[in-house]
Amino acid sequence: MPDLCKLENYEEITPEIVKADLACAVEQILTVLPDFTDKFQPAYSIGNFYRPSENTDWTNGFWTGEIWLAYEYLKRIHPEEPEKASLLYDAGKVQVKSFLTRIEQKISVDHHDMGFLYSPSCVAAYKLTGDEDAKKAAILAADQLLTRFQPVGAFLQAWGPMNEKANYRLIIDCLLNLPLLFWATEETGETKYSEIALKHIHTAVQNVIRPDGSTWHTFFFDPVTGNPDHGETCQGYRNGSAWSRGQAWGIYGMAVAYRYTKDPSYIDLFYRVTDYFLQHLPDDLIPYWDLEFTSWTKEQLLDDPQPKDSSSASIAACGMLEMSKYLPKEQADAYTGYAKKLMKAISDTCAVRDLTRSNGLVLHSTYSNHSPYNTCNHYGVDECNSWGDYFYLEALTRLDCDWEVYW
Ligand code: GLY
Repeated sequence: MPDLCKLENYEEITPEIVKADLACAVEQILTVLPDFTDKFQPAYSIGNFYRPSENTDWTNGFWTGEIWLAYEYLKRIHPEEPEKASLLYDAGKVQVKSFLTRIEQKISVDHHDMGFLYSPSCVAAYKLTGDEDAKKAAILAADQLLTRFQPVGAFLQAWGPMNEKANYRLIIDCLLNLPLLFWATEETGETKYSEIALKHIHTAVQNVIRPDGSTWHTFFFDPVTGNPDHGETCQGYRNGSAWSRGQAWGIYGMAVAYRYTKDPSYIDLFYRVTDYFLQHLPDDLIPYWDLEFTSWTKEQLLDDPQPKDSSSASIAACGMLEMSKYLPKEQADAYTGYAKKLMKAISDTCAVRDLTRSNGLVLHSTYSNHSPYNTCNHYGVDECNSWGDYFYLEALTRLDCDWEVYW
């Protein structure tokens, strides 16, 4: 087992706190639902409040996923109050229709984030309610994702017009888009989806995971030969550092890769990326937006304060809880315990309890922070963000029941 002794001194979230946090989060979702049924929660809050937005960003699936998680919770915990669950069911259906329109009319789908959009919204709706429109939308989204495949290099191109040298790259986040492809193969029997997913995973893990277990955010390939060219950060602090959320996508990415392939090499990679993440947490266990800052001195951080990204902790917790299903007992207990410690830290320092303070669920996330060494815009810094809220709710749900995953 790796040396993660530091984590021994932290408390785990208890089943009672999980239940209380779930109840509070679901209450919050019901309270804001009227504003976010025909509209969506955007990627990030401003002053901790989300404003209603259109279904045009890569992030809109997370809010719909929260609706489905809250719906499941109410059916499970309060079957005597079916009216509340019905409100969520109806809102979820409205949103599924919007996702069907979006993919049929190809509105802002010229990128790889079809899984982030369609797994927690439409795959979830289909699994929970058998909604055929949701299934149709998710299969169309999987077809759209296949159009991003670059045979030369064998990867799904993340952003930008296809084939341009400046865009000839994959990004680590895409590992969470792949469950949509595996699901599409399970539903249709057509192996074209899972074949592309397998090729992409293979290329991604060979290039984005560094020998010390840290990860590149993005990796370029030569468009003529397909040979790996170079790694480059987009949302991290600098080339060579580890962007916290990218590392967390790597953790959950390895768990879902193992879930669908049962390839034991993904277990080893899971240990490497997870242990790097855990070893680079600050004392309050809420990651800085880049893991680099954990090794800065107090003086450096006073001179140049760095925001946290609480969403990375929830994503990592979900990945550890998923992978723990497949690990030997000793390791499963250890990684489940780490996930519970991260969730206790979020519960203590980031969870929204005062609904006048925010209409989100979790404070202190960072979407995109500018640094002297990256080309990022500065937005959604130290705010709520929609995936931070979604994965918080997913992690609590995983800790409360035997949950059938949307991914
Ligand atoms: N997938 C983009 C992000 O995590 O910000």
